[in-house]
Amino acid sequence: MPAIGLGTWQRLESADRAGGAEALVEAALDAGVRVFDSSPMYGRAEQLLADALRGRRSEAFVATKVWTPSPAEGQQQWARAAGWFGGRVDLMQIHNLVAWQEHLPMLEHARDAGTVGLVGATHWSAGAFAELATVMRTGRLDAIQIPYNPLENAVEREILPLAGDLGLGVVVMRPFGEGGLLRADPGPAALVPLASFGVQTWPQALLKWILSEPRCHVAIPATSRPDRVAENAAAGRPPWFGPDERRLVSRLAGAG
Ligand SMILES: NC(=O)c1ccc[n+]([C@@H]2O[C@H](COP(=O)([O-])OP(=O)(O)OC[C@H]3O[C@@H](n4cnc5c(N)ncnc54)[C@H](OP(=O)(O)O)[C@@H]3O)[C@@H](O)[C@H]2O)c1
Repeated sequence: MPAIGLGTWQRLESADRAGGAEALVEAALDAGVRVFDSSPMYGRAEQLLADALRGRRSEAFVATKVWTPSPAEGQQQWARAAGWFGGRVDLMQIHNLVAWQEHLPMLEHARDAGTVGLVGATHWSAGAFAELATVMRTGRLDAIQIPYNPLENAVEREILPLAGDLGLGVVVMRPFGEGGLLRADPGPAALVPLASFGVQTWPQALLKWILSEPRCHVAIPATSRPDRVAENAAAGRPPWFGPDERRLVSRLAGAG
């Protein structure tokens, strides 16, 4: 069943600066969000997330990452995350494929021990998708995290078909192109054909466009605002778009 998660890059620290990191995570859980994505690259986000989940950790599926060229530091990042998230991380990913050959054995070992649920790898750049495909073909991953939205659709060529063939979980980063796609908001009248799909806003149209691709399982929009968490989460419920609705959203987004 496809789902909306919550990304934490920059926005969780931003919520914290406004005094509301806990309120944001609470609002997400209350809206039915279960997948929370973080990384040691995101400043204090991992720790803020762990603090905010205290008391409700069992409701969350925590996805975080190792991000370092050093195997020893990767081990430390993993151990620190395990400590923060109650001894277990549900999805541990190799961020931007950094030193993936070095980190994979450590993550596989943790998966065997049951302290990591799934092992994944991420990359944001189409220039790295050939390498990502190589890692996928090793058969050692359970999931990937890739960018996908109407204007960033390079994954349609090789990565999504391969993920489908291999049965991998697919987490979608950058659903709003870091916010840039939201500036193309076509307004309520243009969204009327999508109302019967439960879509009332442009962010919801973009999120449902992603989750209506059957090889995508979770989209992780980042927001610092609790009201937007609920708005985004509502796009994680069926009915899903067919080809006509997906084409409409692509056209509204300005895809060629
Ligand atoms: N290499 C990697 O592994 C990698 C790379 C990039 C991203 N990621 C992951 O993917 C997540 C999402 O990607 P992203 O953070 O680049 O960008 P994004 O989710 O595409 O866009 C985030 C922007 O959208 C705004 N926003 C969110 N919901 C909104 C709504 N309903 N209405 C209006 N504005 C809204 C946010 O601002 P407000 O805070 O003002 O709402 C923020 O500026 C990251 O947080 C991270 O977890 C991973």
